Amino acid sequence: MTTILLAQPVVNSKLAELTSRAQALRASGMAPFMKVILVGENPASQIYVNRKQELCRKVGCDFELVHLPADVKKSQFLDEVQNMNEDEKVTGCFVQLPVPDQLKDIDVTALIAPEKDVDGFGAPSIVAMYKGKDPQFAPCTPKGILALLEHYQIPVSGKSITVIGRSLIVGKPLSLMLQNRGSTVTMCHSLTENLEIHTKASDIIISAVGQAKFLDQKYFRDDQSQVVIDVGMCRDQDNMLCGDVDFENVKGQVNAITPVPGGVGPLTVLSLIENLIIATEHKQIKG
Ligand code: GUN
Repeated sequence: MTTILLAQPVVNSKLAELTSRAQALRASGMAPFMKVILVGENPASQIYVNRKQELCRKVGCDFELVHLPADVKKSQFLDEVQNMNEDEKVTGCFVQLPVPDQLKDIDVTALIAPEKDVDGFGAPSIVAMYKGKDPQFAPCTPKGILALLEHYQIPVSGKSITVIGRSLIVGKPLSLMLQNRGSTVTMCHSLTENLEIHTKASDIIISAVGQAKFLDQKYFRDDQSQVVIDVGMCRDQDNMLCGDVDFENVKGQVNAITPVPGGVGPLTVLSLIENLIIATEHKQIKG
C-alpha cells in the first residue's frame, strides 16, 4: 500500500505550538511582524505571497506587503529593501523571487538584514550548513521536507537520496542539510545524463525541477520501496496544478509519495512562519 504523504497532519501538529509562541511574544510587547516585497504581477508569486499572509494571520503574526510595479526602478527597489531592513517593528522579511529583469543583476538575497532573513538564503545560513550545522534560519522548503519525512518516520541517515535541481532555494541547501543528517546525496539537474540510473538506485527521490509530470514510471523501481518527494508546482495540459512527478501513474509503484497540491507547499509556508517566530524570539532575548 502506498502512503500519500499529506502536509495537513504535519501542519496541524505544529499550528497550536506556533500560535502560542506568537501569542506569548505579542503579550510581551514584541509581536512577530513579517514584511514582504513583491515586484510585478507574476501569478504564482502572488499566490505564494497570499498563502504566506493567510498563515501569518492565522498564527497571530502581523503582515505587511509592499507591492511594487513590474517596471520599478532599481533605486526605488533598493530604497524599499533598506526601509524594510531598518523598520524597527519588522522582525522578519523577504523579497518574493523571482524579480523582473531590470533587477536581475542585484544579489537580492544578500541585501536582507541577517537577523530578519526568514527565508534563510543569506550567507550566515549558507555558511552554517556548509560547515555541518543547522542554521538559525533554515531555508523553508528543505526545512519543510525534513519535517514531513520526520513526521512520517522516514529515516534519512544512511539512505541514498537523489535530489533533482540545484537551486539556491531548494536543491543546494537541501543536499547540505541531508548530508549533515547522514544521507548519501546525489545531486542531479537539467544536464544530468541517464537520470533514471540515479533515481532507480535511490531510497528517496526529491524533485525540484518545475516541469509538469516529467518523472514518469520509467524513473522508479517496481518494488514499492522508494519514497518520492515532489517540490514541483506546475500546470498540466488542462491547466490543472500538478508536480514534477506523474502522480497518478507512479503512486502504485512506490512506497510513499507527496501529492501536488497538498504535499510540500504548505510545509514551506509553515517553515517560514516558524522562522519568523524564531527571529522574533531572538530579538526579544537580545532586547
Ligand atoms: N520564490 C519561490 N520560492 C520562494 C521562497 O521560498 N522565498 C522567496 N523569497 N521567493 C520564492
